[in-house]
Amino acid sequence: MDFSNRVKSLPPYIFIEIDKKKKAALAAGRDIINLGIGDPDKQTPKRVLEAIKKATDNPKNHCYPIGRGMKVFKTAIVAWMKKRFAVEVTEDEVMALIGAKDGITHLPLAFVNPGDIVLIPDPGYPGYMAGTIMAGGTAFIMPLRKENKFMPDLDAIPEAVYKNTKMMFLNYPNNPTSAMADLKFFEKVVKLAEKYDFLIVQDNAYSETYFDKPPVSIFQVPGAIKHAIEIFSMSKTYNMTGWRVGYAVGGEKFINGLGTIKENMDSGTVSALQEASAWVLENCDEEAGQIRELYKSRAEIFYKGLTAAGFDVLKSEGTLYLWIKIPDKYTSMEFVSRVLEEADIVITPGIGFGKNGDKYVRIALTVDEPVALKAIERLKKLKI
Ligand SMILES: Cc1ncc(COP(=O)(O)O)c(C=O)c1O
Repeated sequence: MDFSNRVKSLPPYIFIEIDKKKKAALAAGRDIINLGIGDPDKQTPKRVLEAIKKATDNPKNHCYPIGRGMKVFKTAIVAWMKKRFAVEVTEDEVMALIGAKDGITHLPLAFVNPGDIVLIPDPGYPGYMAGTIMAGGTAFIMPLRKENKFMPDLDAIPEAVYKNTKMMFLNYPNNPTSAMADLKFFEKVVKLAEKYDFLIVQDNAYSETYFDKPPVSIFQVPGAIKHAIEIFSMSKTYNMTGWRVGYAVGGEKFINGLGTIKENMDSGTVSALQEASAWVLENCDEEAGQIRELYKSRAEIFYKGLTAAGFDVLKSEGTLYLWIKIPDKYTSMEFVSRVLEEADIVITPGIGFGKNGDKYVRIALTVDEPVALKAIERLKKLKI
């Protein structure tokens, strides 16, 4: 039996090819340094783990999680939005997610009909394209270019496209470029969404992984709640990628749409994790700060070392990544293969984030200083 057209139309998952090469190199006994996947190398902080353990002991948390999130979690999200961004939302404007990816990939199913346009940043997190394809939407690519500070050129999008647009994905702080957006940019986007009646999905999964200036929320723009949904994640903020918890904040209609899809697809976010996450949002600013400082110091080490070695590295203000321009003679896949073959280092090709990423590679800041220095030494020896 054949796969559905839906499955056949999904782009190949390029990271699988890299993973195969990495596994072969490890099996051959090579000393591989992994700067590929954006998964924190440190364990979930102790107090967070204790909160999870405590919540799992509560038998009330052993049943199906109900609805769009437990009261305790929704209350904590509302309070966190106020504490962190001075933004007032109601409990009907928030919902629990099984990680940010859950919200991102399911939102198009709630609002996009076949043929509707979805504006997608390129390079960008692959979930935006996957969700759009699975909903039968038509992707319109918004290139993110260095000369525009990796912001989409909103004026370059034709009016005819805007008129058929149902949804626009944005992601600041940005994976993979690490660019940041300011409120002026979001004000402009909200005006466009109002004019052309589309939903903005601002992926704020890296809202707490900043180095100096705290990123903004789109809801700091007055009236944005009528046009936007913002997606947050516990994954990178608290080293909780494996626990699968995130949350969405947005207009009630958008939460209801996403909720309807999810109610028919999954049975909610694990109750113990919602209860623990509520406590973490209220009590673990210190842990989030320590994690942020760690990435900041690693970003400095890599930036300094790689720039001195002749690499064209973009200065990062946040996220877990550095975005590096490669010489024109390579595709990003060729460059990544050379780095693996000659330096025993796994990095991610920019093409994995879309065709506008093909002259770049991404490194993840997921190793401690001694390994980072070893990686820099190896990369120095590469003749690029
Ligand atoms: C931009 C972006 N959005 C969403 C996600 C998914 O995060 P989560 O672990 O919360 O599903 C990632 C993960 O790397 C990401 O980089």
